[in-house]
Amino acid sequence: MANCLVTGGFGFVGRHLVRMLVEQGDKVTVFDIVPGSKFLDDIKDTFSFRLGDLGNWVHVAETVRDNQIDIIYHLAAAVPPLSETSPATAFYSNVMGTFNILEAARLFDVKRVIFTSTQSSYSEGDMLIPDDFPQRPNTFYGITKVCGERLGEGYWMKHKVDFRGVRYPIVNGPGRMLEVPGQYVVWAQQMPALGRPFKVFVEPDTEVPTLYVKDAAKALIDLAEADGSRLTLRVYSLLGYSITAQGLVELVKKHIPKADLSFRVNEAIMEQLRKLSIGRCMDSSAAKRDWGFKPAFGPEEALQDYIKQCTEYRNLLDYPIPDW
Ligand SMILES: NC(=O)c1ccc[n+]([C@@H]2O[C@H](COP(=O)([O-])OP(=O)(O)OC[C@H]3O[C@@H](n4cnc5c(N)ncnc54)[C@H](O)[C@@H]3O)[C@@H](O)[C@H]2O)c1
Repeated sequence: MANCLVTGGFGFVGRHLVRMLVEQGDKVTVFDIVPGSKFLDDIKDTFSFRLGDLGNWVHVAETVRDNQIDIIYHLAAAVPPLSETSPATAFYSNVMGTFNILEAARLFDVKRVIFTSTQSSYSEGDMLIPDDFPQRPNTFYGITKVCGERLGEGYWMKHKVDFRGVRYPIVNGPGRMLEVPGQYVVWAQQMPALGRPFKVFVEPDTEVPTLYVKDAAKALIDLAEADGSRLTLRVYSLLGYSITAQGLVELVKKHIPKADLSFRVNEAIMEQLRKLSIGRCMDSSAAKRDWGFKPAFGPEEALQDYIKQCTEYRNLLDYPIPDW
């Protein structure tokens, strides 16, 4: 049994991770700037919680010290669009916040820090990106994540903090709330699973790399438990699957015949997507080779899980979305 701290444990990926850690018998402390997640109401007595801000050294240091943490799963971050409209929030949460986590790990002998970076640390367009490809992000978000990766490597090299990280593609699953162009992957499944209409706002041949949320959370546990002597990298890119918007629509209609799903392309969003250069493919062969990364959810399995979760958590997932 490990003593785990999950920063951002009330967020989209974090709440799946918290559930998995509790289920496998770990002692879990959630650190978050928001006071709770209704998705975890059924297990709220099985973990402890510290309300705090990552950018505040005292909040972070006291939490790590008081709970004698073995492993920090560091997921909390300012994400787009907030990171782009408020560079200060992005800096204090993502750069200072990650520095505070690493410094606390060094001072209080934390065994391992698991970090969540992003495909947005690249801006290379439509190509297969190897792990050692130069990172030149075109968003504040990406810049702060590259900074987190390098800080972590520095703490590993100079202070032997066992820093390990992943670069996620778009993580999809019911309840992802980000109002960003890649969000169509989520809403094209969540809305039909709830019996709601949805107009896909990207061109049918748009294809983005993605990873189902349960695979995203499980990968962090697998990386934390991996044999350190087999790791050839500190940060690994992950890919679950890629599917075109057209392919996704056909899949949803096959499994939910009554789905009211059609295309209404929004040129402004397509322009944003092009600028983000999001249509690229992550090479996850190093993660497969070094620590056995093996996503369990392809497009079909993911959609089945949307349908299940949208039934189980209907009251939490049936919220209004923007009309793009
Ligand atoms: N969801 C994706 O598609 C995706 C893709 C690439 C990388 N990531 C990374 O994975 C991680 C988890 O993503 P997510 O989708 O769960 O994000 P999320 O926004 O749903 O959750 C982030 C959590 O961090 C908390 N938080 C934010 N700022 C904080 C601060 N200063 N102090 C304490 N807590 C704070 C939020 O309250 C929230 O609960 C993030 O680091 C994100 O950058 C996510």
